[in-house]
Amino acid sequence: MVKREFSNKVVVVTGAASGIGLAVARRFARAGAICAMLDMDRVRLERCEHEFGDAGHRVMALRCDVSRRGDCEAAMAAVIARFGGVDVLFNNAGITQRSAFVETRIEVYEQVMAVNFFGALYCTKAAIHSLILRRGLIIANESIAGLAPLLGRTGYAASKHAMHGLFTSLRSEVRDKGVHIMVVCPGFIKTNLQDRALGGDGTVTRHPQSRIGRQDTPACAAEAIFNAAAREKDLLVLTTMGKIGYWVSRLAPGYYERRMASQFKAELEH
Ligand code: NAI
Repeated sequence: MVKREFSNKVVVVTGAASGIGLAVARRFARAGAICAMLDMDRVRLERCEHEFGDAGHRVMALRCDVSRRGDCEAAMAAVIARFGGVDVLFNNAGITQRSAFVETRIEVYEQVMAVNFFGALYCTKAAIHSLILRRGLIIANESIAGLAPLLGRTGYAASKHAMHGLFTSLRSEVRDKGVHIMVVCPGFIKTNLQDRALGGDGTVTRHPQSRIGRQDTPACAAEAIFNAAAREKDLLVLTTMGKIGYWVSRLAPGYYERRMASQFKAELEH
């Protein structure tokens, strides 16, 4: 049952210049939404702004590093000044890490938390009053690693678990104010995320990536996210392997850990 329509709604997407964020912005724009696209990658962002403008969509592209609180506050203020408010906030900007805990510098954890967790926190804080006024929707793009362990991703999993705690708790505070929060936990989606994964020393890692099952496309993920947002789902788990992983990790956590570890440990041995 459709509960929300997005035509003429103001949709803010972080990490909108690539992958899932870009595909979700395209999907909402096709439904008639006004898209505010936030990303730190200025070049890709400009390309997206042209693409959306050429297609006749209403769009505002803002360079924003979500790990900087001032950037997030300024971006949200600019969106509210131009369009009057925020109806949907898609907290999506993210980075990942692939490295063994013993070889990973503390700075890598700080960086991953700064983008994935604090970026989502800063944007949500800056938009929450407008979202409450407009009985809006927050979508948190987490990961299966926000619900279950993942070898070689201690920093990434910690940041996504932190997001999960933040957004599921916030949901209990704002639901009766008319704000809905949906958590999205994708399995593997074919994007640029892994090409930029940090290694233990903070540079882009050369560890090959282990993967289980087929990767879905960003467009396919975006369609599912859009439909679930319209129906106000609380939790959306994406990809077949993501769904299997979700249920196995809940029903048989010990078995999940052993299987997952045997699938992933090879990537740290190179
Ligand atoms: P992507 O790398 O294609 O897109 C991420 C976007 O975020 C890029 O445009 C990048 O410039 C932007 N970004 C990175 N740091 C930023 C910062 N500090 N400030 C502003 N923008 C920043 O990757 P993808 O896969 O589309 O990732 C989107 C989200 O989906 C991430 O939060 C990721 O953790 C999550 N996710 C992705 C999965 C996958 O298999 N691709 C699986 C599970 C979750």
